Amino acid sequence: MAMFADLEPRAPDAILGLMERFRADVRPDKVSLASGVYVDESGTTPVLDTVREADARILAGQTTKVYKPIGGDPAYNGPVRDLVFGADHPAVTSGRVETMHTPGGTGALRVAGDLVSVINPTASIWLSTPTWPNHPQVFGAAGLPIRAYPYLGADGELDIDTLLGVLKGVPAGDVVLLHTCCHNPTGIDPTAEQWERIADTITEAGALPLLDFAYQGFADGLSEDARGLRALLARGITMFVASSFSKNFALYDERVGALSIVGADADETATLLSHAKATIRSNYSNPPAHGGEIVATVLADPALTEQWVGEVTTMRDRINGNRARFVEGLRAAGAPGSHEALLRQRGMFSLLPLGEDRVARLRDEFGVYVVGKGRVNVAGLTAHNLEPVCRAIATVTA
Ligand code: LMR
Repeated sequence: MAMFADLEPRAPDAILGLMERFRADVRPDKVSLASGVYVDESGTTPVLDTVREADARILAGQTTKVYKPIGGDPAYNGPVRDLVFGADHPAVTSGRVETMHTPGGTGALRVAGDLVSVINPTASIWLSTPTWPNHPQVFGAAGLPIRAYPYLGADGELDIDTLLGVLKGVPAGDVVLLHTCCHNPTGIDPTAEQWERIADTITEAGALPLLDFAYQGFADGLSEDARGLRALLARGITMFVASSFSKNFALYDERVGALSIVGADADETATLLSHAKATIRSNYSNPPAHGGEIVATVLADPALTEQWVGEVTTMRDRINGNRARFVEGLRAAGAPGSHEALLRQRGMFSLLPLGEDRVARLRDEFGVYVVGKGRVNVAGLTAHNLEPVCRAIATVTA
């Protein structure tokens, strides 16, 4: 008798499990609008030129493979902090911000979750409905009770009043996870004015914001996308920020990200940092080097940095252009409803009102893969697949 004969198998992961299914699909005209990965017009996810150049420099100059510090290399952490917060922001210059290199943005979220479970064992974490399917898994694994705050109204737009009403009642010390830009899965971000109200409400409640900043640069620009972060920073409260370079450096398989700790003052930051380091040491010990070295090499060289900003702009412009082409394509295919809202949404994702049955039909009849009840990655659209995808959506929604 097998030791685990009674163990029930787990369902495949909502996103990466679906990608396994996509890879196993033998239909030549299959289309993935599933995983949040940027592809160019040829349908591939390229290595950025700046990343290639940094790789060459690292290879030529490498002298050791010795461990990185627990929180990562200062040559990475400093420039990343400056990129995320702005080098001359008062929170940075006053020593309130410490940035640590983590394995990907997911690693940063998990370190934050583990840290919270140590420093405030009674805290729950509040997630938007809907949110990235991995959020509840990450924080559940860290032992945090999961609570939900509403995000979308019946009209499919951000219901800011209901959202604020619930945030007002969040117990002091609980964590509120906010998507800094390119909300996953809806693509709907708060306006600057709404961010100010969210920041006020969270501050009054005494909650701890955790910002998931996985898509910096993919909405309106590297600095513009931090407007919600800056609104919260201005309140002087304690907060955490999880960053990722999977998307804006296209370093998906290098697993490179960062967790930034912002204390109310430099002393609190130092104490929190010491706990975060203990959390990391008992988990993966210290971060993998290579991806961080790539990011550090690019950010250390002003010319390479400028070139990289251009690469981010190219990706963002293509995504936003795809939104316009998608709306046009849906109209041309006769898909019912108005699709104008897609133009106001930002980042790779939009949530189409499809539902599980239509999502299954898209996949099974047309080889078009989308996540959950209708999250599409508009970056996956190309001149080649746009028309068939729009026709398929029109057919299943007719
Ligand atoms: C996504 O939401 O598709 C991406 O963040 C990839 C992932 O790890 O789920």
